[in-house]
Amino acid sequence: MANPPSQPQPQPQQAARPRQSNLLRYFAIFILTSIILVGIAAFIIWLVVKPKHLVYTIEDASIHNFNLTNANQLYANFDIAVRARNPNSRVSVYYDKVDVFVEYEDQTLATSTVAPFFQPHKNVTRLEVKLDARSVNLYGSMPKDLGLEKSSGGIELEVWVKARIRFKVGAWKSRDRVMGIYCSPVLVHFSKSRGFERTYCDVEL
Ligand SMILES: *[C@@H]1O[C@H](CO)[C@@H](O)[C@H](O)[C@H]1NC(C)=O
Ligand SMILES: *[C@@H]1O[C@H](CO)[C@@H](O)[C@H](O)[C@H]1NC(C)=O
Repeated sequence: MANPPSQPQPQPQQAARPRQSNLLRYFAIFILTSIILVGIAAFIIWLVVKPKHLVYTIEDASIHNFNLTNANQLYANFDIAVRARNPNSRVSVYYDKVDVFVEYEDQTLATSTVAPFFQPHKNVTRLEVKLDARSVNLYGSMPKDLGLEKSSGGIELEVWVKARIRFKVGAWKSRDRVMGIYCSPVLVHFSKSRGFERTYCDVEL
């Protein structure tokens, strides 16, 4: 009586422990199995879809009505041909918003927006983009550099494209994502007789 039954007290705890650890084990097995199944499913989907990188090149670029005023303002029209190749046999691409930029020494000279389009699988689409530079203020050494390059017969531009795209595989469509396509250097000759050399673009997705 003086000693209350304090010794048997740990028993229920000991009885509970194996059940708890069993539950934990089942839970761990469940989680692991789920991860493996999801992994296998993803691998099978990947094998079936076999995603390949989209490929972009600048096929042609020309400049017209170039005018660098005494006030260091630039007027010019650019014609840029972008080739978009989708080498995938099961993935097609929605281009929901496409903005094209022409830059010189990190300054944007002209921008243009391409109408949204859908690119089927195994497709090559050529985009003819017209961009206008209108009274663009040039700063620092830019007017001098541009003038020098102009008199040498060609200028080195950078073309980049910002595209909001979605992928389509069968009936499934991905969420939209923003893709950056960087093409540099794009060497534009003022004389038509000098051919254009294709520029390959880097893609950031
Ligand atoms: C260039 O632009 C200036 C200002 O707009 C104009 O006065 C000049 O005539 C233009 N030059 C050419 C060759 O078009
Ligand atoms: C690529 O797709 C566009 C749009 O559907 C189509 O007009 C064009 O002919 C296709 N090009 C090729 C090479 O299949």
